[in-house]
Amino acid sequence: MAVRNIFTDDASCLYKKARPVEKFDKKLHDLLDDMSETMYAAEGVGLAAPQVGILRRIFVMDCGDGLIEAVNPEIIETSGEQGGMEGCLSFPERRGYVVRPNRVVFRAYNRIGELMEYECEGLSARCVMHETDHLDGHVYLEKVTEPPEGFTEEQAEDEREPEAGAKAEAAPEAGAESEPKSEPKSKGEAQE
Ligand code: NI
Repeated sequence: MAVRNIFTDDASCLYKKARPVEKFDKKLHDLLDDMSETMYAAEGVGLAAPQVGILRRIFVMDCGDGLIEAVNPEIIETSGEQGGMEGCLSFPERRGYVVRPNRVVFRAYNRIGELMEYECEGLSARCVMHETDHLDGHVYLEKVTEPPEGFTEEQAEDEREPEAGAKAEAAPEAGAESEPKSEPKSKGEAQE
């Protein structure tokens, strides 16, 4: 395990669409281990692979309910709305008000290629939307708006549902889509 460099600001890897993971091998496991170590070391709640220069559809998150490793995530459903302050490890020292769905259902493969389904609310839902944006080369700064009059961050914290978080279960069709795919030509990962 190792802490990797987090790319920031105008690094080109933050603005490119990431490709799906096709092999659930040791290289993936090493990357996932490094990503969570990097995220915890930086005291972040989420980290997407493009932030460490790897243009693959992977993110890790831990909003206080334990670590989620999401490979090839797909948003299934969103509902509700929440506005709150957001930051990003790739834009240190900056924060901005972003409106996001309050509830998100998404599916992703875990590190051994099992399709999982997660239901998230509140901060976890915000984090999922933020991280999946990274996989499409989008950053939260594109979505920052003026907070409503009278908005304070403390108030937003107080109103957060204490039990809001992420629930995981195996997706109903787990396994159905997990047959091994052919190994793509190694092109070398972006390391900008
Ligand atoms: Ni970010």
